Amino acid sequence: MKSGTSSKNNRAAASGKASGSSGTSSDSQITGQQADKEAISSTSPSYLQKFFTDQLKDIYYAEKALLNGLEEMKSAVSTEELQDAFETHRQQTERHVKRLEQVFRLIKQEPEAKPCAAMDGLLKEARNIISETEEGSFTRDAALIIAAQKVEHYEIATYGGLVQLAVTMDMRRAADILDKTLQEEEDTDQQLTHIAESYINIEAEHEGGYSWDKQAIGAGSVTL
Ligand SMILES: [Fe+2]
Ligand SMILES: [Fe+2]
Repeated sequence: MKSGTSSKNNRAAASGKASGSSGTSSDSQITGQQADKEAISSTSPSYLQKFFTDQLKDIYYAEKALLNGLEEMKSAVSTEELQDAFETHRQQTERHVKRLEQVFRLIKQEPEAKPCAAMDGLLKEARNIISETEEGSFTRDAALIIAAQKVEHYEIATYGGLVQLAVTMDMRRAADILDKTLQEEEDTDQQLTHIAESYINIEAEHEGGYSWDKQAIGAGSVTL
């Protein structure tokens, strides 16, 4: 289930090259000197700098959209441990938004969200699961864990790539900040795997009243 191989490598690269320089907390204030050093020109950025900024805008939109998505998923599930996990990650996601704003400030760009079709699609999938499963069922909880993990994997891929790009462009402070979020995304993914495998998947397997079956029988086809 875990897919963090490449992102772990990215994190190793970031901590080796980026963290070693300052050793400061990623949530601390950005100094003017740091911002000057890692600023991206708004008039003549390199292609890679432009792509980096573009990806920041993508994940900025995605994180904001996810705030609502996690709230909806938390309200839809019935297992307390899963509700707590979604709430904890919603609070982390608020910090992820703030960290992205830090990175925008660091590179001297205005925080800007660019619509992310991938996150919109993943959240639509989660909403479909909510409408297709029975309230209070373990099946719904098991399915929403997978939906949430798809979101985490998207974030892991994005942050893993951004950390690596920041390291490549010698933007050490930006790499540190993004790496902190990357680690939280990976931890969340692992925690969701643990919750699913410890009991929710097993309970779901033995559950009656499987709403997808009912819908499939009624519609005469399976639309998964
Ligand atoms: Fe996030
Ligand atoms: Fe996340």
